[in-house]
Amino acid sequence: MKKLTAQGMRDMFLGFFKEKDHAIIASGSVIPENDPTVLFTTAGMHPLVPYLMGQPHPAGKRLANVQKSIRTGDIDSVGNESHLTFFEMLGNWSLGDYFKKEMIPWSWEFLTSDKYLGIPVDRLAVSVFEGDENAPRDDESADIWACCGMPRERIFFLGKEENWWGPAGLTGPCGPDTEMFYITDKEPCSNTCSPACSCGRYLEIWNDVFMQYNKTAEGNYETMAHKNVDTGMGLERVLCVMNGVKSVYETELFVPIIQKIEELSGADYAIASETDRRAIRIIADHMRTATFILGDDMGVSPSNVDQGYVLRRLIRRAVRFGMQLGMEEGFTKELAQVVIEEYSGAYPELTRNSAFVLEQLILEEERFQRTLRQGTRMFERALSKLPEDAKTIPGEDAFRLYDTYGFPIEMTVEMANENGLDVDIADFEHRFKEHQQKSQQGAQQRFKGGLADNSEQTTKLHTATHLLQAALRKVLGDEVAQKGSNITAERLRFDFSFGRKVTKEELAEVERLVNEAIQANAPVTSEEMTLDEAREKGAIGLFEDRYGEKVKVYTIEGFSVEVCGGPHVENTGEIGSFKIKKEESSSAGVRRIRAVIGE
Ligand code: SER
Repeated sequence: MKKLTAQGMRDMFLGFFKEKDHAIIASGSVIPENDPTVLFTTAGMHPLVPYLMGQPHPAGKRLANVQKSIRTGDIDSVGNESHLTFFEMLGNWSLGDYFKKEMIPWSWEFLTSDKYLGIPVDRLAVSVFEGDENAPRDDESADIWACCGMPRERIFFLGKEENWWGPAGLTGPCGPDTEMFYITDKEPCSNTCSPACSCGRYLEIWNDVFMQYNKTAEGNYETMAHKNVDTGMGLERVLCVMNGVKSVYETELFVPIIQKIEELSGADYAIASETDRRAIRIIADHMRTATFILGDDMGVSPSNVDQGYVLRRLIRRAVRFGMQLGMEEGFTKELAQVVIEEYSGAYPELTRNSAFVLEQLILEEERFQRTLRQGTRMFERALSKLPEDAKTIPGEDAFRLYDTYGFPIEMTVEMANENGLDVDIADFEHRFKEHQQKSQQGAQQRFKGGLADNSEQTTKLHTATHLLQAALRKVLGDEVAQKGSNITAERLRFDFSFGRKVTKEELAEVERLVNEAIQANAPVTSEEMTLDEAREKGAIGLFEDRYGEKVKVYTIEGFSVEVCGGPHVENTGEIGSFKIKKEESSSAGVRRIRAVIGE
């Protein structure tokens, strides 16, 4: 197979699509600029959602790029052989332009032609959608693959789990995809071995999504007039395949980072124990991701909420594993320097923001070291409280050390052993699982609100959004329900179900009602209650998505009662004034209003 460098691969992909008349667009930020419902940009399509929904893109209908992407999921379990928290996604898009009969032959050409990847055909397999009650079997794609030269026995028909790309939210563009796989030397695991199983025989390298349906609020799938294509190829994965290395960590992208870890720790990746090798991988992965988050122009720094929280976890987890390898304080900035140097050509923002990256890492390492020292004192106190003949440290103490002081359980066990004690691991794990569930629910709730930040201006706009929804329901009726909300310090954007254009007169009336509520300087109060109590109180809100027993209900006396996580102003008067800037269609049956305050 062709040996490729990372830059060679980026250039080859973009060059190919440039030849097919695509505009090459820049990578978006790793922090989504227009979608506060998720923390990080997870794929190349993510920043393009408005254009996939029909808004014209200034660069045209054919686009391609390399997108910085982050998927953190459950951070505590990342760091295995293949999982990366940061990756680069090579992607191309058709915005209502070409479709399957162009895209599949292009994928074929790029994968098999000697001018491009030149992968032997017998090393390739593809999967297509097998069909279900909502959408037919994708024979069209299968036939095009066969026509290109893909043997029928390596065209697998798979179900929705594997070959369907859902809408970004509950409604919107969606459709079948076709995935391309590299066949490794691993023997089939069974007679039914297919790209759907995880035995390692089939490695996914590319995914062409064909957005041909619009999922409506009623759950129907309508064929879209403007069909989109959205493809994604993971750079690290494809480099791994092309260069015949066993893991992404052995690709050129990781070599300099791992070398630096070896230099600073004295470990040797090639012959390290499985535990140490895992530690090296985790440090390399986390420091690369942390550098890209800090190095983004959005200027996120470690904190206890949102992106800052994930960033903090990544850095601290890297530090913990660094300590395990005996690395000295201050190593994170040294690794960040390697990342910056390596990636500065492709991502100049890293150089631009390098001082910030290094300074933040130094600060966060210091803070963490302080916490660790406090934790050690807490450990000693816990120890002194145990009865003379105690043999184990209770799970409760071990968990507090983990949760409050960031002590990895391994470290607590080690310290316990040094004192001739064990740790009640079963109890610790029980508490840990409980905590994980809670924090996942917390994360879900935190980002439902659609707030970009918690600034004063955003808070005011958030309260204004409640007034807007209440006024819309008063003027247009109960058919109005929130479908989405996106609030930045500059403006609010509110999507709601309603079947037609809202008239000028209706908008004027909505605006008048909101301003009336502002002038009334009504108090905004909140109360915790069960979902049932909230319903009884007539609260509106996204009930289906709530977890747990209790919800918070915000009441604006005389105007609105709504389930919500906050934050809000104390009195509506703080909002000043309210003005609707625009009303438009967002998708079928959904309208969108943009409004500002205090003008
Ligand atoms: N959105 C698809 C993916 O993430 C294709 O880009 O795989």
